[in-house]
Amino acid sequence: MIDTEHLGVKIFEYIDALAELSEHPDHLTRCSLTREHKQANAMVEQWMQTAGMTTHTDAIGNIIGRYAGQTEASDESAKAPALLLGSHLDTVRNGGRFDGMLGVITPLVCIGALNAHGIRLPFAVEVVGFCDEEGVRFPSTLFGSRAIAGTLNSDTLDQCDENGISIANALRDFGLDPDNLKSAQRAVTDFLGFVEIHIEQGPVLETQNIPVGVVSAISGAARYQVSVTGQAGHAGTVPMSLRQDALTGAAECLLAIENVCSDHEGLVATVGEIKASPGATNVIPGHVEFSIDIRSSEDSIRQMAEREIANIFAQIAIDRKLDIQPVKTYEAGSVDCDKQLTRLLADSIESFGYPVQTMPSGAGHDAMALAELTRIAMLFVRCKGGISHHPDESITVQDAHAVADVLLRFLQRFDPAALTAG
Ligand code: GLV
Ligand code: MN
Ligand code: MN
Repeated sequence: MIDTEHLGVKIFEYIDALAELSEHPDHLTRCSLTREHKQANAMVEQWMQTAGMTTHTDAIGNIIGRYAGQTEASDESAKAPALLLGSHLDTVRNGGRFDGMLGVITPLVCIGALNAHGIRLPFAVEVVGFCDEEGVRFPSTLFGSRAIAGTLNSDTLDQCDENGISIANALRDFGLDPDNLKSAQRAVTDFLGFVEIHIEQGPVLETQNIPVGVVSAISGAARYQVSVTGQAGHAGTVPMSLRQDALTGAAECLLAIENVCSDHEGLVATVGEIKASPGATNVIPGHVEFSIDIRSSEDSIRQMAEREIANIFAQIAIDRKLDIQPVKTYEAGSVDCDKQLTRLLADSIESFGYPVQTMPSGAGHDAMALAELTRIAMLFVRCKGGISHHPDESITVQDAHAVADVLLRFLQRFDPAALTAG
């Protein structure tokens, strides 16, 4: 019998230590493949080793720990398929400390508890800290989990951050070789499944007064970089009727996006970044770049909206004599969670007397990418006010304890032989 009482406190201790590793002195920003990300990997690696795991960093910058199963622990040559647990170690700019990190630290701490009690499971467990889920630094996203799933195209490594550093060069700076990308890919037979713990990032569990819930499906998403080119000119001399103002054209595009997406239940789109140049008070903007993030749990609705938006952009380009070029930088379809793993998670929640709340996830997660490789399931943890991607993001120590309890029970009940195909 494992005494789990201290696990919530331990999870907080680790989460707080990771939150110190920030690119910014006053708030938490840790983008992928930065110096702070490297420090976070080193910190997590140390904790993994303390928890009894063997560790390595793969070719894309994911940190991975393996807790050998019963047979493997007694036979060096054996390498059985593992249950994979984890989430990401990057953050948005000025983000919270739980989004991603909770899903790495909770399994790590649970494995540490098993190890401290000398308990080996009848299967191996791997814990992973993925290198990029937020997609903040580079236009693409989920490249850690996609590299493992074998769905990351090597062309993606040419994408650059705002300083012109490509993912390939960022990997080199990180001490990795981008030409080794393929070595990060894992085989279907390596894994029994993937379970990701994540804060809910919404208000449902808090409203229902339940600490932990299960996820039914994850919404699909697409990202675009749009460039709008007009003609820069003097703010005082060019009459309004003769302007090709890229920024007012972009403004019309933004309102069109909002309009299209307001028409469909569950469809959401966000323009979170926009840059106008040359960027002077007395110069008409000649060029604008903006991003689009568009999501829906129904892929067909999202794709229809994307087509509608592209048609409207084409019309705006004609009307305003602009060149408008939307380039899709990322796309992922919606993904269902595996029924068997989810049932076992739900049973583990129920065994503590909590009702089972099932909900879809509007946020993207590494589990989406892993679904290409193995069965996936997710546990959501109640967060205060549903706030996330914000420094006020928080959960309680009691809820960290609750999710550790649920995960440990799940691990102790999980029987690979009982999984049926599908
Ligand atoms: C990540 O949090 C995302 O959903 O974009
Ligand atoms: Mn996340
Ligand atoms: Mn996030």
